[in-house]
Amino acid sequence: MLSIKQCRDLIDGSEKYSDEKIKEIRDDLQTLAEITIEQFLVSQRRLVEAIKKEFKLDINSIHGIKHWNNVARIGSYLVERTKADFEVVHLFAYTHDSKRENENADPEHGSRAALFARELLQKGVIKLPDNKLDKLCFACENHANSEVKSDDITIQTCWDADRLDFWRLGIMPDKRHLNTDIAKTQEALELSREFNYE
Ligand SMILES: [Fe+2]
Repeated sequence: MLSIKQCRDLIDGSEKYSDEKIKEIRDDLQTLAEITIEQFLVSQRRLVEAIKKEFKLDINSIHGIKHWNNVARIGSYLVERTKADFEVVHLFAYTHDSKRENENADPEHGSRAALFARELLQKGVIKLPDNKLDKLCFACENHANSEVKSDDITIQTCWDADRLDFWRLGIMPDKRHLNTDIAKTQEALELSREFNYE
């Protein structure tokens, strides 16, 4: 595996490598990418299993797994453009509605989700530094209240990813309740709508 110095030399062109060496580097990077993807899939499976085990509603309901997956996918699209924190947005997708007890008015479900996120951390299901955990918890706690505002791009991205999935209820997302510029674009609206027709 290349050292950081070798990577820098390679990037700035101060070190020239033979074709054979470049192939070796490419193979190393490929292996590293596969390990990282594998680790992500293992931790993702563990997370979803832990959440499903305690979910009180039908897993296929409007606040169930399809919604979590949609929020994660919309979130990934937004994160690429807003530069929000991927980990926080991804965890928000799977936790924010995980403690709902009914499909209608359940004003405390966000607070319960925030508590649950802290429990998942204590149990080692998720790993997050304090500053990211605080953002995740704030986003969960306040996601259902569009009166609450935040100037943090990661929290805004979490809320927009959730609100763009209003399409699943047959409702067009209301731009007045979206926070980031990218979420208000036609492209984001159309993309999030398509997820519900797959
Ligand atoms: Fe939601």
